[in-house]
Amino acid sequence: MPGKDIDLSIEFLGKTFKNPFLLSSSPVSNSAEMVARSFDAGWSGVVFKTLNSDRLPIIHPSPRMNSYHYGDKRLVGLQNVEQISDRPLKDNLVDFLYLKKHYPDHILISSIMGFSNDEWAYLAKASEDNGADMLELNFSCPHMCIEGTGHHVGKAFDLIEKFTATVKSTVSIPIIAKMTPNITDMNEPAMYAKNGGADAISAINTVSGISEIGLDDLVPKPNVFGVGAVSGTSGPAIKPIGLHFIADMAKCDDLALPLSGIGGIETWVDALEYILLGSSTIQVTTGIIHYGYRIVEDMIEGLSDFMREKGIARVQDLVGRALENVKTTNHFDLDRQGISQYDLDRCVGCGQCYTVCMDAAGQALEWDAKNRRPRLIEEKCLSCMICSFVCPVPDLITFKEMPQTWNRKETAVMDPDLEKEIAHEPFIATSTEGGNECLC
Ligand SMILES: Cc1cc2nc3c(=O)[nH]c(=O)nc-3n(C[C@H](O)[C@H](O)[C@H](O)COP(=O)(O)O)c2cc1C
Repeated sequence: MPGKDIDLSIEFLGKTFKNPFLLSSSPVSNSAEMVARSFDAGWSGVVFKTLNSDRLPIIHPSPRMNSYHYGDKRLVGLQNVEQISDRPLKDNLVDFLYLKKHYPDHILISSIMGFSNDEWAYLAKASEDNGADMLELNFSCPHMCIEGTGHHVGKAFDLIEKFTATVKSTVSIPIIAKMTPNITDMNEPAMYAKNGGADAISAINTVSGISEIGLDDLVPKPNVFGVGAVSGTSGPAIKPIGLHFIADMAKCDDLALPLSGIGGIETWVDALEYILLGSSTIQVTTGIIHYGYRIVEDMIEGLSDFMREKGIARVQDLVGRALENVKTTNHFDLDRQGISQYDLDRCVGCGQCYTVCMDAAGQALEWDAKNRRPRLIEEKCLSCMICSFVCPVPDLITFKEMPQTWNRKETAVMDPDLEKEIAHEPFIATSTEGGNECLC
């Protein structure tokens, strides 16, 4: 538990959240009854399931989700075709009033998605008038059944700016723009949101994907009565994508907006990584779909213990702390090289290191079949470290830097006599135009 020495509260858009942990907009935040239970469990705020104005009927496809298991790891991802809220707007607004009445210290963020300019304004005003502390503009659902909505808006940057500006001119509460990851560079649409008046950015919504095809009917899942579609992937599988976009935006001096990180967060470590890369708050859906609201207890405890161990009193002081270490690859010091090293006293003799080194690395291991032990030929080791990834004994294989005088041996060619037969001249540049620009 946090204890008096640890302060998990965070300032975000003028409000104090008692901790950085929020429900993201999804089935986990679909009603006041659910959200109230999540607040009781320890979550500090909610982004309510995206509101709909009742103008167009929302019908969820059935079934609406599919699990993405991999090997014996369950739910490394989740595939969903769920739409925005199918509840009447009135019911959702009554729930807002309930939450603000009974949980005044928790933060209520209303997620909205309009299908026209007027509708964005209407939903924004209805949310503000019924107690929402902030708005999140959903520019990012990848599988809306209504043409031209969701991430189609998030990919048409001028529409992001236009709808954000509409909302900005309608309400006085802060506005968060929720971004789609189904683009290459998030800084650009985030700048459009900023120009429209967004006060913060949240990212990411689900990643467009196909995670499984039925092998009998050949239909992607979820199979909606014979029809599959590209739809939204969430969960641990997408965390690297979320972290990368958050880091990019946090490092963008022109953007300079507070961030709310989303995507594959299940543990306090996942949450902390998002915070270290610049997220002030973090949001969770699939982790709750997998384990329930109670995961917040581990998040609170794990983060508090970490802070205590590191002597950091305020979580606010962790926001963005890892950013200075996120560089581009041309900053690597390529003169420094290393190899893997083995603590063979702990080796169980499974031989997996040998197999992967032979088939996917530098053939730097010999196998002592009698004693069932690997032997490293140091100058052939590529330091790819894949042997350590497959070794079942934690930290048996570690990385070791070698002296600068040490040299790696090049991979030998099979038949040196063939050298005279190759059609190959050394490259000689005739122009230096383009310099060292990366063309990959
Ligand atoms: C079933 C489901 C429904 C969702 N519905 C919404 C929604 O209505 N509005 C929204 O902004 N995001 C919605 N999301 C996206 C989540 O809020 C979140 O951005 C995404 O799932 C990534 O986070 P996660 O890996 O923690 O699930 C939904 C996600 C799932 C899995």
